[in-house]
Amino acid sequence: MGHFARECPNAERVDAENGDDRPAAADYVPPEPSQDEEVIFSTIQKGINFDKYDDIPVEVSGNDPCRCINSFGEADLYDSIGENVRRAKYDKPTPVQKYGIPIVSAGRDLMACAQTGSGKTAAFLLPILSGLLRDGLQSSALSGQQCPQCIVVSPTRELAIQIFDEARKFSYKTMIKCVVIYGGTKVQHQTSMVDRGCNVLVATPGRLLHFINSGMISVEKVKYLVLDEADRMLDMGFGPDMEKLVNNPAMPKKGERHTLMFSATFPNEVQERAAEYLDNYLFLTVGRVGGANSDVRQVVVEVPQAAKKDKLIEILQSQPENDRTLVFTETKRGADFLASYLSQSGFPTTSIHGDREQREREEALNDFKRNRASVLVATSVASRGLDIPAVKHVVNFDLPSEIDDYVHRIGRTGRCGNTGLSTSFYNPEKDATISRALIKILADAHQDVPEFLENVADSAIGTYHGNTGGGFGGRDTRSGPRRGGGGGGNRGNRDWNSGGQGGGQESWNSGGGGGGGGGGGAAEDEEAWD
Ligand SMILES: Nc1ncnc2c1ncn2[C@@H]1O[C@H](COP(=O)(O)OP(=O)(O)OP(=O)(O)O)[C@@H](O)[C@H]1O
Ligand SMILES: [Mg+2]
Repeated sequence: MGHFARECPNAERVDAENGDDRPAAADYVPPEPSQDEEVIFSTIQKGINFDKYDDIPVEVSGNDPCRCINSFGEADLYDSIGENVRRAKYDKPTPVQKYGIPIVSAGRDLMACAQTGSGKTAAFLLPILSGLLRDGLQSSALSGQQCPQCIVVSPTRELAIQIFDEARKFSYKTMIKCVVIYGGTKVQHQTSMVDRGCNVLVATPGRLLHFINSGMISVEKVKYLVLDEADRMLDMGFGPDMEKLVNNPAMPKKGERHTLMFSATFPNEVQERAAEYLDNYLFLTVGRVGGANSDVRQVVVEVPQAAKKDKLIEILQSQPENDRTLVFTETKRGADFLASYLSQSGFPTTSIHGDREQREREEALNDFKRNRASVLVATSVASRGLDIPAVKHVVNFDLPSEIDDYVHRIGRTGRCGNTGLSTSFYNPEKDATISRALIKILADAHQDVPEFLENVADSAIGTYHGNTGGGFGGRDTRSGPRRGGGGGGNRGNRDWNSGGQGGGQESWNSGGGGGGGGGGGAAEDEEAWD
């Protein structure tokens, strides 16, 4: 652990002050979003396993749980929002929507955990947008300062853009004004967007704090605060920013605002931290907390470092030319290197990582989405939340050091009931620490566990890694002391709030104790997050 810049609290602090993690490159003005109804409503077609979502066990814990709905008709959405659900061709809610929508509509706080690609975004957007219209939209009292009633925070810029697009889609033809602000772009441009009016603000943390600190945004009217990828938003990297956000003197206190948290993974330790921001919340679990999407076939092959390139070429050659493949590498330099190697080898390839300028990042993602490049090489900056149509194959060229990251990465395929494939290159020299957690993920998703992996894990006793350890945080941590393994939450060690600014070693979010972590790259090669 500790080899991502995001885990260095000092680095994050600089980001927050500048409102941007790439101050030098901030003259980028992103293109205006499309007004074309067809573009706004274009979406991933649901796949053959969509109806099987109904077989996944659901659990709701907490006081006075709400009744679930079985159709969007029962959701009692505001008319115009319901109309947009039909325009989006959503004919049936997914489990997280069936249970989540009534909880949010009832004004309850929520911590929701459901597998990748199963519709968490609409689970919070639909009831929020409906609620805003029902209660009446508020415009800002002061000119030059906007007071959004809903703030959604996201760990990456591209995910913020995507959530903003979804918010625009579901608020189409209503008076709701949605705005997105994120790092790597020209502040004045985003200021002018905010100035046009802002009911729903989607933001990355650094840029959000910049707008709040400079008085352009006030949080005093916030009714809904949403943390998407909440476990990521509350870990060491972003935790201090979230602390600043909720402790802003103007922010309505918990109980006066609705706080909603969503992710496919929720380590116990993070649940405990999250609970501090929530009031009498319900905990919703669809399937197993932190479990992999079972629509993704997971293959793990043993590949020594030196053989990885050839293996990847072999894979790409063996599949149809236009199949979209997302390849994850550990480092930004590695991503650049691999992307040029693949391009030179005749595969239309692009790349996305934290050292690329924001314009390039957005272009890369668009080229991949439109299949101008059928291969996207990415660092973990693309691991969470991104909903890219028709990603057929996710390749972990390098395995991540944390199992939750693995779950999110492979979740870029097999979305919305479609099937997908992931192939992970297991490097025996480096990946032993993740082996046991990986076996558990594979077994829980009824995937074949390769023999070599079982052997490694047998000899790697005591190297539980990540929060998975001896068991997931597969439930509401309020309901008793069954804690995850792997050395379990050592409170003293994981409290980043109490000093510890330089403490790159303590890694409370990995549950396995500090240090370790696969062969950390040089500082300039680490991934930077917004
Ligand atoms: N009820 C529905 N009917 C049809 N399609 C849906 C429905 N709900 C969501 N979708 C589609 O499913 C896809 C995945 O949704 P979404 O991105 O919200 O998943 P997620 O649970 O947030 O995943 P992740 O954990 O990766 O962030 C999107 O393309 C979305 O439009
Ligand atoms: Mg999501």
